[in-house]
Amino acid sequence: MSIVIAVDGTAASGKGTLAKKLAEHFGFAHLDSGSLYRLVALNVAHADDEADAARAAQSLSAATIEAAQRDDARIRSAEIGCAASVVAVYPCVREALLQFQRDFAARPPGGAEGAVIDGRDIGTVICPNATAKLFVDAAPEMRAHRRWLELKGRGETADEAKLLAEIVERDRRDRERPLSPLEPAPDALLLDTTHLDIDAAFAAALALVQPKVEEALKAPPQG
Ligand code: CDP
Repeated sequence: MSIVIAVDGTAASGKGTLAKKLAEHFGFAHLDSGSLYRLVALNVAHADDEADAARAAQSLSAATIEAAQRDDARIRSAEIGCAASVVAVYPCVREALLQFQRDFAARPPGGAEGAVIDGRDIGTVICPNATAKLFVDAAPEMRAHRRWLELKGRGETADEAKLLAEIVERDRRDRERPLSPLEPAPDALLLDTTHLDIDAAFAAALALVQPKVEEALKAPPQG
């Protein structure tokens, strides 16, 4: 079993940035599981076409997924984020993406000793035995503001009030779906980043997961 850090949380809570920084810190591989759902959304004509979404999920290749991890701007828009939360409701889509994520956790690419995976159901469904689990949240207004700054930084214009409405709607859809809803695992460590900048949030995340990761690194390897 490799070491796994599960970083779940609400939309635009900063979990992706935290997961990336944690992976760099420990020398682990990082998987942004949201990019899988975003890729499915990108590859369907209409997000409400369940059969087409299943086909798109089944035909995702490791190469496409790897390319998307390298910051594919096409999947980063708010529209694709909303469409991703629609296709993420379909059990056939979640089922098609399950094994890829579990394989990544069990055998992190590049021979890394561990994996950091961010998403919504990593600590609850994908890796219930993860070494450490974080659940990241922040006030919705703060999350909308950060997403607005992120888009502005990329030269895109966005309406902050519209971003807030989209984030709230996406959280609602993620929380209310019957399969793999957005919720903290019972053993998740909660991190509220409302009043924390990136460095402070990373320091807080590290303080929470480091003892568990160090303990696992010291343990003798199991077969
Ligand atoms: O980065 P952000 O928080 O805006 O979103 P994301 O992590 O890229 O996820 C986009 C959408 O994919 C979410 O709103 C969820 O509906 C879905 N998702 C999911 O259902 N399960 C995951 N493990 C990751 C994402």
